[in-house]
Amino acid sequence: MKKILLIGNGAREHVIAETLKKSRHEVELFVVGKTKNPGLAGLAKEYLLADVTDKDAIRDFALRMSPDFAILGPEAPIAAGIADTLLQLEIPSASPLQTVGRLESSKSFTRDLLEKYKIEGNPKFKVFVADIGLEEFFAELGEDFVVKADGLKGGKGVKVSGDHLNGVGEGLAYARECLAEGGMVVVEEKLIGQEFSLMSFCDGEHTAEMVPVQDHKRAYEGDKGPNTGGMGSYSCADGSLPFLVESDLKKAAEITRKVAKALFDETGVYFKGVMYGGFIATKNGVKLIEYNARFGDPEVMNVLPIMKTDFVDLCEAIVNKNLDQIKVEFEAKYTVCKYLVPNGYPDKSVAGEKIEIGNIPEGVKAYYASVDLKDDGLYLSGSRAIAFVGIADTLEEAESLAQSAVGAVKGPVFYRKDIGTAELIGKRIDMMKELRNL
Ligand code: AMP
Ligand code: GLY
Repeated sequence: MKKILLIGNGAREHVIAETLKKSRHEVELFVVGKTKNPGLAGLAKEYLLADVTDKDAIRDFALRMSPDFAILGPEAPIAAGIADTLLQLEIPSASPLQTVGRLESSKSFTRDLLEKYKIEGNPKFKVFVADIGLEEFFAELGEDFVVKADGLKGGKGVKVSGDHLNGVGEGLAYARECLAEGGMVVVEEKLIGQEFSLMSFCDGEHTAEMVPVQDHKRAYEGDKGPNTGGMGSYSCADGSLPFLVESDLKKAAEITRKVAKALFDETGVYFKGVMYGGFIATKNGVKLIEYNARFGDPEVMNVLPIMKTDFVDLCEAIVNKNLDQIKVEFEAKYTVCKYLVPNGYPDKSVAGEKIEIGNIPEGVKAYYASVDLKDDGLYLSGSRAIAFVGIADTLEEAESLAQSAVGAVKGPVFYRKDIGTAELIGKRIDMMKELRNL
């Protein structure tokens, strides 16, 4: 019997729980979440309703349940040092301690780390703590720049020229605003290319890659509209993506391997958990946009359902630092994930409205995110609601499976029809061909 503490209450944690339950070991799950996720509730032995950064509540719960290990789903508990709190109780986590969690929570830390340890992948960048040399650096970058407030801002601290900032004047003003708020600011070159997510398991010394996934951040079809947490994603049976060349994946994996080592050399602490690299393939090869210190949401829903490796064994290998003893393998399947979101998402989501799920065909998985289960059915609670994942032998089939499930939901909701379609992916392939001058 393995007792596992799982922190978080989104679709990411729903699929983590489901995958743990598929283990050859008998698993008892103890969940801490701010709200009751109906999917997780069905899988948990005990479910504590508490903030996922509430150290006292989590400490008490952990003491009572005495789990073998913990998994921290979202970034907030990692940044808050919940893995450190649990370790004081001698409960290890397959998620990072606060010091190395800075890989995600501090953009300047990660850029500086790559530079210090001479790891390729950074764009041209500078970290500012005061308004000294700021104007000169903007002049050096010209029209293509990105301004990032340091710290966890749920992606909202990042502003990109052309998208959110019009011209150097606005860039400079936003950078000064970040400084005035007392923070550090990272200013960097805007990279042009195709973004992809390569998540790797890491025990501090060894890394093992998952299949790469492409997320879709924009709210509306054709990559239009505001940025979101991610509207959906796809992965391919060959363990690559159609716009990548083999050397791109090798490079991304190599960057992660080197960063894992650099993290230990810099801090003396092993990074245990998931290193999620947000990479971009450019005409000058693969560059790093950012790291997250956890599974991606929605990306995790593309990879865990097709993982062949026993997830409990894998987590224990991360904790025990013998990940090199485990073969991490995935089924050769296509996956397409489409998120159902409330009308108005992400800025003015409707909430409290009822939805009705239609028929979910075989080959489709449904993972609950922001929904409340009441006596008479499911209600929207204000953010991404349910993720539907189609899994099949062809991309067309995986897409049409996800589409038929998400399209059958009734209520004030929307989703992106174009995710996983040949048409949209074709555009990405064409863009990369053009950039590479093929
Ligand atoms: P981040 O929170 O660092 O992932 O940034 C959010 C989004 O901003 C990324 O997914 C990218 O689309 C965009 N972004 C961040 N940094 C850059 C960059 N250097 N060049 C182009 N786009 C970027
Ligand atoms: N897919 C975006 C994220 O998990 O941060």
